[in-house]
Amino acid sequence: MSNVLIIESSARQQDSISRLLTQQFISQWQAAHPADQITVRDVAFNPVPHLDANLLGGWMKPADQRNDSEQASLDRSNELTDELLAADVLVMAAPMYNFAIPSTLKAWLDHVLRAGVTFKYTATGPQGLLTGKRAIVLTARGGIHTGATSDHQEPYLRQVMAFIGIHDVTFIHAEGVNLSGDFQEKGINHAKALLAQVA
Ligand SMILES: Cc1cc2nc3c(=O)[nH]c(=O)nc-3n(C[C@H](O)[C@H](O)[C@H](O)COP(=O)(O)O)c2cc1C
Repeated sequence: MSNVLIIESSARQQDSISRLLTQQFISQWQAAHPADQITVRDVAFNPVPHLDANLLGGWMKPADQRNDSEQASLDRSNELTDELLAADVLVMAAPMYNFAIPSTLKAWLDHVLRAGVTFKYTATGPQGLLTGKRAIVLTARGGIHTGATSDHQEPYLRQVMAFIGIHDVTFIHAEGVNLSGDFQEKGINHAKALLAQVA
């Protein structure tokens, strides 16, 4: 049995194309791996807090020097890292907003890129600690950005995944979904066809 953690980040609960891809992923995955445990964390509907002084204090101070707020922030943040540590497969569903990922997803990443937990510093540089995991990224984009300098999603997410030790990362983009003509249909069908090969 594997644990699958899905992070939803579209601000839209209705008509979201990244959520449509997630639904396909869940159906496929459940059919192929019925014993797997799937956990969905929706950081748009239930946003995680941004980094603040309490959280940094909670992270950095020894337990006996933390105040109650710092401890509460740390406990909340630990829920997020524990969830990721327990996952064998991480699925991130992300709209492109202003050429990048939603700020809600960035806020989640700010919690889970944690020194001493998901990466550590060594004499030769940082080392990712999440070995043996796989990530799948499902994006929806109004325009077409693959391979272009305007794509600040895939290169960024590849970097942060590698930083915490996840090197097996598959990207599936539904692109051109806001262009006129049949671009939306083609973009979604292309992504669905690629996704069908994943699970
Ligand atoms: C605030 C906002 C910013 C957006 N920025 C971009 C962008 O920079 N590039 C792009 O191609 N599409 C952009 N889009 C279009 C979305 O990526 C597209 O509508 C996508 O389908 C949204 O994902 P969702 O369908 O899962 O909600 C933007 C949409 C919104 C609402």
